Amino acid sequence: MNKETRATVIAGNWKMNKTPAETAALINDMKPLVGAADWCKVLLCVPYVDIAAAVEAAKGSNIEIGAENMHWEASGAYTGEISADMLKAVGVKYVIIGHSERRQYFAETDATVNLKVKAALAAGLTPIMCVGETLEQRDLGIMPEIIAMQTKCGLIGIDAEEMKKVIIAYEPVWAIGTGRTATADQADEVCGIIRNTLCGLYDCATAEAVTIQYGGSMNAKNAAELLSKKNVDGGLIGGASLKAPDFAAIVDAAK
Ligand code: PGA
Repeated sequence: MNKETRATVIAGNWKMNKTPAETAALINDMKPLVGAADWCKVLLCVPYVDIAAAVEAAKGSNIEIGAENMHWEASGAYTGEISADMLKAVGVKYVIIGHSERRQYFAETDATVNLKVKAALAAGLTPIMCVGETLEQRDLGIMPEIIAMQTKCGLIGIDAEEMKKVIIAYEPVWAIGTGRTATADQADEVCGIIRNTLCGLYDCATAEAVTIQYGGSMNAKNAAELLSKKNVDGGLIGGASLKAPDFAAIVDAAK
């Protein structure tokens, strides 16, 4: 199996940006540019309050809508939280789990990431599980161990069949929102480490079937080179997904 047999997924991560009205306007701008793309999956992960507007605006196009986080329980006394079933009920198909900003600012751990990945799969959502090393870890030479550990811990209890429904995003913490992109070779190397880890956890056929994205300052200029790499099956895009022409250029680069 090779790259051609895996889905390429270009996903926007809007983070804490846009009101519902701004969401509708931006998706309306994007629709003519990316709405008919059939060479990759195109999705936008948006803030909870923008989901309804996003689903409505994306109707009639190939753009799918995701969330940026969720809770692992189905319901209960968790003030301020949202469950997988709630997301599903409003038309969400994908959910980002364990983004480094969630790990850094909201104390998410590999253990909560694992609970959320399981809950997302149980509800029929596709989790986009994020892993990535800090600059300090990279400089210490422990990047491969950190990446393997986050991958393994996040996937405890997930069997091979379920694994084929998980997307993994490699997002080096030092590249997110910094303008300092990993080189294409660095991205390919680490996506390859993740694939090898999956090969050991499951089997290599399963590992070859999993979409592994790169994220971290991917933009209209560097996307083509990053996406040309053997192990890079798409992108998780923050800043550049907030501008229709930039996001469209990245979707085009996935051709
Ligand atoms: P960035 O964010 O593209 O703005 O670096 C990527 C991400 O955090 O998913």
